[in-house]
Amino acid sequence: MAQPLFRAPAGTRDLLPPESARRRRLVAVFADLAERTGFGLLESPIFEDLGVFQRLGESNDVVTKELFEFFDKGDPPRHLALRPELTASVCRAFAEHRPAPPWKIWYSGPQFRYERPQAGRYRQFEQVGVETLGTDDPHADVEVIGLGLRFYEALGMKQVRLLLNSLGDSESRPSYDAALAAYLQSRRGELSGQSQLTLERNPLRVLDSKREQDQPVIAEAPLMADFLSGESADHFAAVLAGLDSLGAAYEVSPRLVRGLDYYTRTTFEFVADALDTAQNAVGGGGRYDGLVEELGGPPTPGIGFALGVDRILLACDAEGAFAAAAAPVEVFVVDTAGGQTAAVLCDRLRQAGLGVDRAFDGRSMKAQMKRADRSGAAAAVIIGPDEQAEGAVTVRDMRPGGGQRRVAETEVVAAVAEVLEGEAQ
Ligand code: HAM
Repeated sequence: MAQPLFRAPAGTRDLLPPESARRRRLVAVFADLAERTGFGLLESPIFEDLGVFQRLGESNDVVTKELFEFFDKGDPPRHLALRPELTASVCRAFAEHRPAPPWKIWYSGPQFRYERPQAGRYRQFEQVGVETLGTDDPHADVEVIGLGLRFYEALGMKQVRLLLNSLGDSESRPSYDAALAAYLQSRRGELSGQSQLTLERNPLRVLDSKREQDQPVIAEAPLMADFLSGESADHFAAVLAGLDSLGAAYEVSPRLVRGLDYYTRTTFEFVADALDTAQNAVGGGGRYDGLVEELGGPPTPGIGFALGVDRILLACDAEGAFAAAAAPVEVFVVDTAGGQTAAVLCDRLRQAGLGVDRAFDGRSMKAQMKRADRSGAAAAVIIGPDEQAEGAVTVRDMRPGGGQRRVAETEVVAAVAEVLEGEAQ
């Protein structure tokens, strides 16, 4: 009977070379920038107590519909969930360890949301991000947002826009929420069925609807900007002034709301114009000044962002930025005399710091040279029966028109280095 052919689960993907190496490189670029900005790496568990994530919003899809939840084998069993994002975990870790503020943390890794899979929307996706906890200085907002912008630049992306809004503080927000709810109720009949449902659970999220039918109602909705307390307005103005001083371009987007419920004051999104609107948010973040307290910690303001690695790479493809690097194999060893010499020479060349590969299975000279060609190596080291009898190897320059010479086996590292230096010129 034929064995079943398994595939990666819906909404997940295998990341094969060279794309996997490109992602690793992207994370390395982010890590370098974050570390040079004073952020240290936090590695937290992939799963947490369900309660950690319930704080993201009781009426929020991410919590109510999209969590991968499970019970462990404890007695009694614990109710756990795979993380859908990392801000809650960072706040949980802050409440647990009480580090001295400001606590500046960067992270990277897979997140899990049971969403409807489509291009740029997966059930397992990767984020990189930063969080600064323990200060509400607007300069901290500017530092975080500026880091995001510099990261996209470092990848060579040119079509990323920064959208900014302030969602107000605990003083200004309730009166806005009430005014918005009253307004939306008054025009309820004009809204799409889906938005009518959203209105019952979370009026603010109606502003995020992309449905055509909702647009006239959204266009005339009251604006948060008109409800900001003096303190929130001053804070937002200071953030904008800070971004101006960095020469950072931004668009104040008074109807920008985010998909998670913990946001207060500064909120922002990075949008890639090279992607379709359904998936063009390549990152987002903002302040969440009450979240640590909700997770049992002391009152602690916080700001951060998470950037979607999968979407960033799609946007890079669309822009022709941040191409996959050539494979790091510099030398290919071809051995038609049994393969033993290849094992020794590969080891010696690798110990000298070079990227080295070889063929297996005693293939013919022609087949091995084909592999060498495909590997992208600039030099080949060839051992046939003649070379072996002489204790020698042939070192070939693989560039078009490149020559070759026979050297003693003991000279192989120097001879290869000479070919590679020639290539670097
Ligand atoms: P978020 O907007 O839910 O925010 O996610 C941030 C980014 O992750 C999105 O802009 C998008 O690029 C990517 N993303 C989200 N869901 C998916 C998916 N299903 N497939 C592919 N990419 C996805 C947060 O997660 C917050 N924790 C951000 C934050 C940090 N706020 C404050 N600090």
